[in-house]
Amino acid sequence: MVVWWIVVVAVLTHTASAAVREYDWEVEYKFWQPDCKEGAVMTVNGQFPGPTIQAVAGDTIVVHLTNKLTTEGLVIHWHGIRQLGSPWADGAAGVTQCAINPGETFTYKFTVEKPGTHFYHGHYGMQRSAGLYGSLIVDVAKGQRERLRYDGEFNLLLSDWWHEPIPSQELGLSSKPMRWIGEAQSILINGRGQFNCSLAAQFSNTTLPMCTFKEGDQCAPQKLNVEPNKTYRIRLASTTALASLNLAVQGHKLVVVEADGNYITPFITDDIDIYSGESYSVLLTTDQDPSQNYYISVGVRGRKPNTTQALTILNYVTAPASKLPSSPPPVTPRWDDFERSKNFSKKIFSAMGSPSPPKKYRKRLILLNTQNLIDGYTKWAINNVSLVTPATPYLGSVKYNLKLGFNRKSPPRSYRMDYDIMNPPPFPNTTTGNGIYVFPFNVTVDVIIQNANVLKGVVSEIHPWHLHGHDFWVLGYGDGKFKPGIDEKTYNLKNPPLRNTAILYPYGWTALRFVTDNPGVWFFHCHIEPHLHMGMGVVFAEGLNRIGKIPDEALGCGLTKQFLMNRNHN
Ligand code: C2O
Ligand code: CU
Repeated sequence: MVVWWIVVVAVLTHTASAAVREYDWEVEYKFWQPDCKEGAVMTVNGQFPGPTIQAVAGDTIVVHLTNKLTTEGLVIHWHGIRQLGSPWADGAAGVTQCAINPGETFTYKFTVEKPGTHFYHGHYGMQRSAGLYGSLIVDVAKGQRERLRYDGEFNLLLSDWWHEPIPSQELGLSSKPMRWIGEAQSILINGRGQFNCSLAAQFSNTTLPMCTFKEGDQCAPQKLNVEPNKTYRIRLASTTALASLNLAVQGHKLVVVEADGNYITPFITDDIDIYSGESYSVLLTTDQDPSQNYYISVGVRGRKPNTTQALTILNYVTAPASKLPSSPPPVTPRWDDFERSKNFSKKIFSAMGSPSPPKKYRKRLILLNTQNLIDGYTKWAINNVSLVTPATPYLGSVKYNLKLGFNRKSPPRSYRMDYDIMNPPPFPNTTTGNGIYVFPFNVTVDVIIQNANVLKGVVSEIHPWHLHGHDFWVLGYGDGKFKPGIDEKTYNLKNPPLRNTAILYPYGWTALRFVTDNPGVWFFHCHIEPHLHMGMGVVFAEGLNRIGKIPDEALGCGLTKQFLMNRNHN
């Protein structure tokens, strides 16, 4: 039996009501049936997905994380949390800390400054693909008013699932020739899906077998029980390894109100696109026939779908819970209607009163995304460098000025403007590297991510880019090659959304702006797990002389290990 403890210590002072929430977590593999078929998943305290952290703004979160895996290291990243003053707690292996060895315990400690829908996940190897994830939800501070009005809330954490074990997926990706993992077998809602079986089988014209799970099975969908004529907040987040998703609730409109932990200008939609690394809140009003139930469907977009929709039920308590909806589930919009996808992204504006971006940038990077080869191994590269993180975490190397920790030469800040993004690369070779982009404290940085054609065929893929340690403003999107001096004129400087993940569409560019106000070293990478694994990321460092104390436990590997041993003996 797995014993688990959750200790919530509320520390009340006479000025604020911020609490310290302290958890003991153990991570280990368990046999599980996420989509009714058994596989090995990474669990936290025997749960999959891991336990939800529920906090209020201003709280301090303390997680004592014990690695009970027998053959691999471990870290957990708190996706969407800025880690102001605690860059060592960001949980990116090789960037902000050493992986936690089997048997060892590492303590994360950080504050959650503002309300929002976030999540956490493994950030070493492909541990997110292995199922290491859970929700992290921050409500408004006690005594403060939540600006959104709703009667109840639900939390849907979306993910994708493969039957091929993760070590074999990793091996395939790093083999020559590369063996691609293919499309997911199942989409999971709160860790539950139904492989090759559709709740809607009786309505669908495909020949999927009927579902065979029973209530209470690990793969049985969780129904959302609602009362008529109420408004519910549905929190959505995607930790998918690969899939871009679209969610719809049959017969109901959705009002999108939050994106990546920031309030946005509300807008109404029939369905919502959600990419890996993103989170949203939508408001749903139960204004339909209360004697019926309705499908909630989640389907794949952006890549040729080969995965059945995930389904669950919006159950009006006035209708029998077992009653199936009277019509088939919503159909996912066409996978390759990229215009539709872009139009959705362009509907997102910050809420009134949100901070607006500085009018000018001081530093700018233009980052070309390409698929390449190194000695026949398939890689992804940014400005022709495929990232391999060093043995010594960057944060330790810069804090203690260890010259040999990584290559001190900056990677290229742009690419050759005569590069043809519409065709396969004429010279597909690239090199690995571990250089980083270093910025002064408190300057405005623009990053243009530029898409291109892949190695073979006429294809350009979607890449959701995620930045640690920051929210950035998404200033704009464009088709084709970014034209310096011209495309800046199309930027939205009035009410661009603040986010931590932005989508790079096929053959296009996306422009981001942020201020280097968070001393530390921050990962910026494609949130598609296999892409990151194949080198699709860069690293930003800022305010280096303002980085505070780092617990020695974060840096017990590589050159920092020796450095700390010498220092502590003197
Ligand atoms: Cu959610 Cu570096 O990722
Ligand atoms: Cu990618």
